[in-house]
Amino acid sequence: PATRRFHFNVEWKSVTRLCHTKKILTVNGKYPGPTISVYEGDEVEITVTNRISANTTLHWHGVRQMRTGWADGPAYITQCPIQSNRSYKYRFKIINQRGTLWWHAHLSWQRASVHGAFIIYPRMPYPFSTPIAAEIPIIFGEWWNGPVEAIVADTIMYGSGPNVSDAYTINGLPGPLYPCSVKDTFVQAVEHGKTYMIRLINAALNDELFFSIANHTMTVVEVDATYVKPFTTTSIMLTPGQSTNVLLTPDRPSKPGATFPMAVAPYATALVPFDDTTAVGFITYRDVTKGSHDDHPALIPTTPPDLSFLPGVRDTRFATEFGNRHRSLASSAYPCNVPKKVEKRVFLTISLNLQDCPPGKVCKGLNGKRFSASINNQSFALPSASVLQGYYRNITTGAPLRSDFPENPLHPFNYTSPGLDSNMNSEFGTKLLVVPYGATLEFVLQDTGFINVENHPIHIHGHNFFVVGTGFGNFDADRDPARYNLVDPPERNTVAVPSGGWAALRLKADNPGVWYVHCHLEAHTTWGLAMAFVVENGPGDSQSILPPPKDLPLC
Ligand code: C2O
Repeated sequence: PATRRFHFNVEWKSVTRLCHTKKILTVNGKYPGPTISVYEGDEVEITVTNRISANTTLHWHGVRQMRTGWADGPAYITQCPIQSNRSYKYRFKIINQRGTLWWHAHLSWQRASVHGAFIIYPRMPYPFSTPIAAEIPIIFGEWWNGPVEAIVADTIMYGSGPNVSDAYTINGLPGPLYPCSVKDTFVQAVEHGKTYMIRLINAALNDELFFSIANHTMTVVEVDATYVKPFTTTSIMLTPGQSTNVLLTPDRPSKPGATFPMAVAPYATALVPFDDTTAVGFITYRDVTKGSHDDHPALIPTTPPDLSFLPGVRDTRFATEFGNRHRSLASSAYPCNVPKKVEKRVFLTISLNLQDCPPGKVCKGLNGKRFSASINNQSFALPSASVLQGYYRNITTGAPLRSDFPENPLHPFNYTSPGLDSNMNSEFGTKLLVVPYGATLEFVLQDTGFINVENHPIHIHGHNFFVVGTGFGNFDADRDPARYNLVDPPERNTVAVPSGGWAALRLKADNPGVWYVHCHLEAHTTWGLAMAFVVENGPGDSQSILPPPKDLPLC
């Protein structure tokens, strides 16, 4: 193991896409940002310097941060923001994790352009025998011609509905189907018969996305940095926050220079006005006699490729079956540690809600109101200093120091029938769920009926969890647990809670600290679809959170 050091400057950089030039927030001037590559067991030190006039923080999405919650990054949860011209050194160790994760800004919607891959190389060989010719990170993102800040302001102030970006991107490039964009196309050279590992990350703000490569299948081997039993598929579905490793073996009988399109397009479950455009890139078969200097094809096909190799925008059947195919590897080297019994089941409803409009404003939600969103009808409000400092350093934050978050819905109702009054209201506050060190927990996440247009990608910080069951309709506490997969459920950090359905997760709360739980659709987090849970210190020092670093930012 080594100590890996990185220096990240958060700074503005002028970038042009779709013939619009504007300043976007970046790390070290790059969009997407630099890739962090480390090995399992390494110590990691990332010094982040804020070179903008606003606050910022960075988060290492999926890194477990065992006892180092101070380095997790969500603003006002584990730290106060890094102020302008200040630095903070994020220090943590990679313990028993390997695979593809990512990092992103965790304040307001800064992650729109402040994100990159976080790759943990394993200490042991990959658990599949195919030799890998090359690894290819592919990050899905979004591009706005206008300022993202204005969209955020709209979403917060007027509760306007899902915003629409101007393009999806593949490694920052929209591809030829957008105006003025042919030159900004991602092209990957490959050799016939070799096997490549593609590390897919969905960094989009508000859209679940399908990914396919024309005439090629892919083998899924890992999700959210945990190995799965390999399975072959024509398409991948990723929610914001999720990552998936696939193996690709280009096997088409084709001439060198042949190109095949790859495409990224959204998935939603209902007809709503939103962006259903498609980002396109290409793989091109390399002429092995020429070496790699000739990799970019002279001509990117400009006639729109036939996109019938992608699932349709509302292909819930594909999305559901794809999700159901995931199984933990559950081998002797990588056992599946799903808790067979749990000490506590917490039942959480996930809702969109309506709030009255602030006086004198015109709201763009519904019926002259603005949207909010909630868990058990609690819309999470960020406190004035970090909850972690509040809980573990006795700093006054406005958040309580006791467990006051409702562990069940306040008013049980028929969750999946549309438009019920009991589901319309939410109250803003900073309630916490406090659990003892080592508790085994089950979270049942129940989607509710008002405005079902997409799955909710729920992300838990500081822990992985096992997805032991999912289903449509209302969760049935008598019947459904009998059908849980307690043998090889997938282990993840972000789960798609089915629109009009539920997901049951199990985890062991073995990481003392304060952990954010939220929808990874940025609009929903902004509206309050979040909560925080506290894991108390255990009896021994090695079960307690480490002291905060000296340079931890103060509010
Ligand atoms: Cu990917 Cu709370 O974040």
